[in-house]
Amino acid sequence: MNESIHSASDLAVLDRQFVSLRRELAQKGLSLSLWGPAGRISDEQDATPGPCQLLGGPDGPCRQTAKQTAMRVFCERSPVKTVADDGPVVLGVPVYERRKLVAAAVVCYWPHEALGEEALHRLCDHRGLDYQAVTRLIDNTGLHSIDHADDLLWMLEQLVRTTLALHVATDDLDEMSGNLATTYEELSLVYRISGTMKLTEKPSRFLQHEMCQGLLDVLGVASIVAVVYGRSPGEEQEELTIAGELPLERSALEQLAKRAATQLNGQHLGLVENQIVSLPPHERGRLERFVAVPMPGDERPSGLLLALNKADGEFDSVDVKLMRAVANQAAVFLTNHRLYADLKALVIGVLDALTASIDAKDPYTCGHSRRVAIISRRLAEECGLSSYHAERVYLAGLLHDIGKIGVPESILGKPGRLSDEEFEVMRQHPGTSAKILNGIRQLDDVVPGVLTHHERMDGRGYPQGLQGEEIPLEGRIIGLADCFDALTSDRVYRKAPLLDYAIREIRKSAGSQLDPMLVDRLLSLDLVAFLIELREATADYQAVDSQEQGVT
Ligand SMILES: [Fe+2]
Ligand SMILES: [Fe+2]
Repeated sequence: MNESIHSASDLAVLDRQFVSLRRELAQKGLSLSLWGPAGRISDEQDATPGPCQLLGGPDGPCRQTAKQTAMRVFCERSPVKTVADDGPVVLGVPVYERRKLVAAAVVCYWPHEALGEEALHRLCDHRGLDYQAVTRLIDNTGLHSIDHADDLLWMLEQLVRTTLALHVATDDLDEMSGNLATTYEELSLVYRISGTMKLTEKPSRFLQHEMCQGLLDVLGVASIVAVVYGRSPGEEQEELTIAGELPLERSALEQLAKRAATQLNGQHLGLVENQIVSLPPHERGRLERFVAVPMPGDERPSGLLLALNKADGEFDSVDVKLMRAVANQAAVFLTNHRLYADLKALVIGVLDALTASIDAKDPYTCGHSRRVAIISRRLAEECGLSSYHAERVYLAGLLHDIGKIGVPESILGKPGRLSDEEFEVMRQHPGTSAKILNGIRQLDDVVPGVLTHHERMDGRGYPQGLQGEEIPLEGRIIGLADCFDALTSDRVYRKAPLLDYAIREIRKSAGSQLDPMLVDRLLSLDLVAFLIELREATADYQAVDSQEQGVT
């Protein structure tokens, strides 16, 4: 027999399943009790004793016969009927759980054959009972005959079977509902995470808000830690993202992450420690248990995901499965994000080199395109544009003068004023820039800003002579950035003037040449700090320039 099913607590649970059946049978004068191999399971007295309890007494013929009947049920493993002379009728049926005999259900009743008037008086006198009260009780519940015993035994067998089946079904339903709720939470977390895996999303924000915080809520743990490794094994730098409250010191956490990674050693499974062995006791703090799963990578894991201290009990395989699903998603996001960042850096790098080579045609505008790009992005951010939009404005700023590739160096580098013919050539460059970029579908949205960066608010600009808000915001932004850089950088016809002069000139041009709203935004910045930032951003050009001029 299954030992576990015989434990007192299991039998007590079983007994509780028969509570409502016991009540219903008692109303019909039938006393139901459940017996285990060691005796009666529940010895609680009924609130309102029936005829059996009153007439049989606590240890009288009912209890004795019930015990013997139960033992016979365990031996014979089949229904048993016992009819005592002038006493109770006792019926017993086996109770099976998962095909194992675990208990005997016993019903006892006093048949009317044993309760003639004289016999009832004798029993009442023997037990010290009030005859009238017992008669009223028997009238209420009714009396059954000895002849009904076989039918009642069959009925008891069916009722026991139905009761057990009902409870199995209820337990299954409860378990299924629980599993369904858990699965729903897990699925909705995985779905939510996959919905936020945008390449424009910053990895730190994704790891913190979507992944770690989401897992923290669903798993019900003290904290979730994501460790993202550097790109190559030699690259020591690891990034830690922590959600929740750490139950141990950060240095101990780092040790734990290293040891867990060593133990996982490239496996794609997970490490579960419900008893901590990976850290010595003095380093554990309040850490009681943890799970670690790797974030997969191409040649080696890209990171590690840790869950620390579960609120309700131990970590199990379901927790590990969910963490692995999330870790896999994180790995996909991180890999894609790195590829995207590499590709973006490559494109920007190529464009930067291209524009720098055009700037180099005019030795005095070295780094101009990159500075205009940076100023334009800053102005876009100050206008409240999204980070994506601001990046596109940066790109437009970087490419705004690409059309100067068609302007001879003799005009670009000419000291002093240009002749009318030379200026006419110079006026072509925004259109040439737009023509070059028009062939690149991915740059469609930067063309308008590039084409209109020499338009003026009063309509006296070129190439189209647009006015005011006819000029796209990007064009107005690049126009101001272009002007600000020209006034604050070394030019062929003057050295970089004082910042005060540049501010005065820009303010003077607000409304006629430049958009006054943008001028206000620019002049509200800390321009001294901003100019230092711009110089640092083009420090590589200045170094090359200095070397070429023999300056150290
Ligand atoms: Fe230009
Ligand atoms: Fe320019």
